Amino acid sequence: MTRIVYVNGDYVPEDQAKVSVFDRGFLFADGVYEVTSVLEGKLLDFAGHARRLERSLSELDMAAPVSMEALLDIHRELIVRNDLTEGMIYLQVTRGADADRDFAFPDPEKVPSSLVLFTQAKSIADSPAAKKGLRVISIEDQRWARRDIKTVQLLYPSMGKMMAKAAGCDDAWMIEDCHVTEGTSNNAYIVKDGKIITRHLSNEILHGITRAAVLRFAKEAQMVVEERAFTIDEAKDADEAFITSASTFVMPVVEIDGAALGDGKPGPVAARLREIYLDESRKTAL
Ligand code: PDD
Repeated sequence: MTRIVYVNGDYVPEDQAKVSVFDRGFLFADGVYEVTSVLEGKLLDFAGHARRLERSLSELDMAAPVSMEALLDIHRELIVRNDLTEGMIYLQVTRGADADRDFAFPDPEKVPSSLVLFTQAKSIADSPAAKKGLRVISIEDQRWARRDIKTVQLLYPSMGKMMAKAAGCDDAWMIEDCHVTEGTSNNAYIVKDGKIITRHLSNEILHGITRAAVLRFAKEAQMVVEERAFTIDEAKDADEAFITSASTFVMPVVEIDGAALGDGKPGPVAARLREIYLDESRKTAL
């Protein structure tokens, strides 16, 4: 089955999906994106992703190409056309294709922003990694300072993934001033004496949609949550650790820089939160 992709108003087979070489996403990484998970053919937390997209666009003075209602329709149409039961929908908005390469933004009246969406099938709920847990390394955080905007400039996170791979690990946690910011494409958490600790929201991290849901569920389940920066040494000494993202939900971390956490197996808090997240998200998926 050929994947059907959405490009600026059209649903086309993936080999016919094209954007201009002058697109500012291609030339300047002048674009933002969202990844929304799909479970049993339904979208998880679409409203949260739509809100964050609007915020990313407004922080960069970029026009929304279509309304958020229209975006929901496009997501649903792609699920149907691609018969997607589980995985993600990737959405990208760029500042469009100007006549030439120019650092200055084009006039949005003359150059419309461009919109691309595609599906990616993936087994997230029954991921074997959730039973094994991830091994991570720490690396210096060398990204730009507005990590709260979900831009497509992902070269450093890609390099981080490759550094992790080269070390025989799964992912990298990024460190700034001895404190963990986040994973290459996920939010980072540790658990110490039953307390869930994760970095507070600021421009230094992406405001994860899964993070918001998981912290809400944790508080509803009477778990103690502390939103503050934690050091990499604190993380290595934690009872357990985990990450969250739309493409992994809640995923345990069992090793940091070669140091096993607890007994080196996925911890009970991560397992419980993963279960709650799956149950609750199924209820509100649309
Ligand atoms: N990444 N932090 C970073 C740097 C991320 O790239 C992501 C998501 C998150 C988690 O956000 P959310 O819970 O809203 O998915 C945190 C997506 C999945 C990606 O780039 O594929």
